Amino acid sequence: MHIPVPVIHLFATVLISLPITLVTAASLKAVSHFGSNPTNIQMNIYVPDKLAANPPVILAMHPCGGNAQGYYGMTKLPSYANKYGFILIYPQTTHDFNCWDVATNASLTHGGNGDSAGLVSMVNYVIMTYKADPKRVFATGSSSGAMETNNLAGAYPDVFAGGASFSGFPYGCRRGASSSSPISDTGCPLGQVVKTQQGWMDELKKGFPGYTGSYPKMFIAHGTADNLVVFSCYTQQMMQWSAAHNITLSKEVTNAPSSGYTEQIYGDGTKLLGIVQQNGQHFTPYQEEMVLKFFGII
Ligand SMILES: *[C@@H]1O[C@H](CO)[C@@H](O)[C@H](O)[C@H]1NC(C)=O
Ligand SMILES: *[C@@H]1O[C@H](CO)[C@@H](O)[C@H](O)[C@H]1NC(C)=O
Repeated sequence: MHIPVPVIHLFATVLISLPITLVTAASLKAVSHFGSNPTNIQMNIYVPDKLAANPPVILAMHPCGGNAQGYYGMTKLPSYANKYGFILIYPQTTHDFNCWDVATNASLTHGGNGDSAGLVSMVNYVIMTYKADPKRVFATGSSSGAMETNNLAGAYPDVFAGGASFSGFPYGCRRGASSSSPISDTGCPLGQVVKTQQGWMDELKKGFPGYTGSYPKMFIAHGTADNLVVFSCYTQQMMQWSAAHNITLSKEVTNAPSSGYTEQIYGDGTKLLGIVQQNGQHFTPYQEEMVLKFFGII
């Protein structure tokens, strides 16, 4: 049978456009060129179909051994992004057993040439491309991703308005270790790096020498029975960030946010909030609602 050319075109158009119209729902997408990337890490973003005007940005970082796609599926943040219109960045590292670098000065220092520089490039790319709000940029992660959250809060307090750390340790805790993987450095995760509050503050100041502005608000979650990144790493984080914000523990609420947890409120609760999971192991379940409220997104 002979089919006139225009009809073939019509068929082709229908066939080509059909799958496209079926897959317009947002998904995790790779971004290949996003700016300076000294350690060659990878960028993925989740941009919801309905974006808020000047949307907030959340950088969500996977644990050691993890990857972007895995962490994308690990929390309900993408469905909250659909509802509240913020953008999620899911970076990925394939170095050092997929652990984020929190050991070298390159990553620990503002303007260095480590993982933190590439992560900040991703944020700047999203601000430029989607007119995202530079005042509402947040970092979060679990385990190694939580450690990098602290790293970014110390090295780039001018970029991040807040951080949420699930089962991590303080900024600078692993400085100088031979790597950021638990295989080669267990000192900090096992609670062997202990400092005074002033010591943690001095450490923090090394992240951005000469910086006089305020530090990001921090949400810190940890389980008391964590044997990979022990609970004292929580205590050390609280010492560091309460020093940075010059506040103290003002209130403890048991069975909050739910049974088995204790909420620790520092100052008025807007700058530093902790949740302790009684007998919780590595790592603490993500608390989407609480974190997004703390960030001021909900
Ligand atoms: C890293 O920085 C710290 C202080 O900021 C310094 O004491 C140390 O010598 C540096 N380490 C290297 C390897 O440059
Ligand atoms: C910290 O807060 C106290 C009051 O709570 C105040 O007296 C002190 O000056 C503050 N320190 C700094 C460095 O802001």
